[in-house]
Amino acid sequence: YLDFVRSNETTGIDGKPMLNRYSTHLTREHDFPGAQAMLYGAGVPDSQTMKTAPHVGVASVWWEGNPCNMHLLDLGKEVKKALTARGMLAWQYNTVGVSDAITMGNQGMRFSLQTREIIADSVESVTCAQAHDANITIPGCDKNMPGCIMGMTRHNRPSLMIYGGTIDKGYSKTLRKNVNVATCYEAFGAYTFNTLKQPDDGGDTSKTKDEIMEDLERHACPGAGACGGMYTANTMATAIETMGLSLPGSSSTPATSPAKMRECAKAAEAIKVCLEKNITPRQLLTKKSFENALVITMALGGSTNAVLHFLAMAVTAGVDLTLDDFQRVSDKIPFMADLAPSGKYLMADLYEIGGVPSVQKLLIAAGLLDGTIPTVTGKTLAENVASWPSLPSDQVIIKSLDNPIKSSGHIQILKGNFAPAGAVAKITGKEGLRFFGKARCFDKEVQLNEALNRGEIPRGENLVLIVRYEGPKGGPGMPEQLKASAAIMGAKLTNVALVTDGRYSGASHGFIVGHVCPEAAVGGPIALVKDGDEVTIDAATNTISVDVSEEEMETRKKAWTPPRMVVTRGVLAKYAALVSDATHGAVTDLF
Ligand code: FES
Repeated sequence: YLDFVRSNETTGIDGKPMLNRYSTHLTREHDFPGAQAMLYGAGVPDSQTMKTAPHVGVASVWWEGNPCNMHLLDLGKEVKKALTARGMLAWQYNTVGVSDAITMGNQGMRFSLQTREIIADSVESVTCAQAHDANITIPGCDKNMPGCIMGMTRHNRPSLMIYGGTIDKGYSKTLRKNVNVATCYEAFGAYTFNTLKQPDDGGDTSKTKDEIMEDLERHACPGAGACGGMYTANTMATAIETMGLSLPGSSSTPATSPAKMRECAKAAEAIKVCLEKNITPRQLLTKKSFENALVITMALGGSTNAVLHFLAMAVTAGVDLTLDDFQRVSDKIPFMADLAPSGKYLMADLYEIGGVPSVQKLLIAAGLLDGTIPTVTGKTLAENVASWPSLPSDQVIIKSLDNPIKSSGHIQILKGNFAPAGAVAKITGKEGLRFFGKARCFDKEVQLNEALNRGEIPRGENLVLIVRYEGPKGGPGMPEQLKASAAIMGAKLTNVALVTDGRYSGASHGFIVGHVCPEAAVGGPIALVKDGDEVTIDAATNTISVDVSEEEMETRKKAWTPPRMVVTRGVLAKYAALVSDATHGAVTDLF
């Protein structure tokens, strides 16, 4: 396959690196006059440019209906301007994703994860079909970043990613505090349980709960940019920058800041360096750079979705990364960041004290990050951040290494008779390390939401709420669950743990375990658990177990019948038929 997409021509007739090593097959001599006619028609100005300029595809994951993505076409235009000014031919195109926060509000959430594959397929298709020599991708929302990296890795031509940037902070005058999209979901729990109130500290407390909700909804998202906490989008952008695939500062620069525009111009310089030195994604996606991604994710308290996406990126790049690597890194890296969802601050706050490069600088100096990895600038990670300011001594967002929030990472890999192939837990330690309770099973998240709405989850006893048939095949699409976890946090139900073969949103927190593998749809133990079974989740021993004997599990397995597939045609049916399990990243091209 790689022979199909690879060009062996690396040196031009002048002995210099050949920057148009793919497009030259279309543009040299008159081998493909129809192709050249099309390219002139599309804007190539003259024959000199036709014969020599590298073609750079600029892929924005743009659409209008989401703050995370609404500005990405404009960023692409800036990139195009900068590429053109440097003598390259820029071809803007589009690929589509969906908004995670919006899809989570309805059954559309099943369509979310598979858009990662659509993005990867689009980027790979356009680059290879159009013979682009290089590729700049501009993603915004959660699935966009891994999708872009997977597409770039598949075509493996000089590439870099510009993150669309984080959203600014929202402010609610009613609640007199900074708010963001996750605040709305959590408020919903209090709204349902009639405990949503304005602060009673002397201000106007006349607002009804509906007026408070309305106020939150109107002010949580003040403009363009991805969700502001250490949710999935910021987690992935931060990791990808720490792997060397985007420019220094890309992940913490807010979407609407002038610095984001400057990054677009700098990207044109960097892609030229990548072309000249033939720096390709597979050179950057290595075991060492994945190790860096895991380190920064643990240090900053990133989303559990990162586990799935890193595994998918590694599978695509042919890097041997397993769930055990996550546990190994989690055991040694302290959780240091007071960032939402478990903490107080947002990425826009981190930007103001130096941003992600300042954190990288700290971790490189401590020997926790590998500063020697190559990056898209042509320099090492350590060289990129050398001139960056250190974190100010009086800042409060990143705790010191000797006094972190937790001495190890928050992501825990659990195994046991409940999840023989593994499960992913996000345990910050705030909720304790061990949870024991009786199982209460729900086939699909909607059933749990309905039970919550009806007030059927009692406060008295410890319960393990199990949401199943929501895995990659069973969902289908391994939908992300935020509504239930946010409602539970908002309602302050501290007597429950949540377990699913689906995923939790990066904005979720509490005692939660997701990605349970094997999933219910293929007859994993999660399908066989019954109401009242005793389940133990133990982050100290990294186990998740159900107190049911092997023989009883065997009996239940024999009596189990796979559910009828309700989706039989269309994109979700295709996804369910092709998708790998969660421990292999839930990708669709692993046969
Ligand atoms: Fe796009 Fe949160 S919905 S980053």
